[in-house]
Amino acid sequence: MAIPQRMIICCQSFRAAGEPKGICHKQTDGFLQYIEEEILDRGMDALVVGSTCLKQCESGPMMVIQPENWWFKGVNSEEAIDTILDGLEDGEPAAEYLAS
Ligand code: FES
Repeated sequence: MAIPQRMIICCQSFRAAGEPKGICHKQTDGFLQYIEEEILDRGMDALVVGSTCLKQCESGPMMVIQPENWWFKGVNSEEAIDTILDGLEDGEPAAEYLAS
């Protein structure tokens, strides 16, 4: 299998030890599958990854796109995901969700 062009990283609040903590996993139920379907529909070459806590809990749910290193905050709806993926296709990060 070829190495993907991008990784879309969704915080799932995992901890090295113990139960998930933080807010991201509480507001992103079904998102990994939704993103997976969207990137297939859009023909994007990206791998979806659920991550440990990204240490930005106060801005969560968090999503990161690499290698662009775009960090998005408040990604709590399919509409937000669509907006971010639209921006990725256009080559510009979705400003309303961009974390500073
Ligand atoms: S739980 Fe997602 S940033 Fe901490």
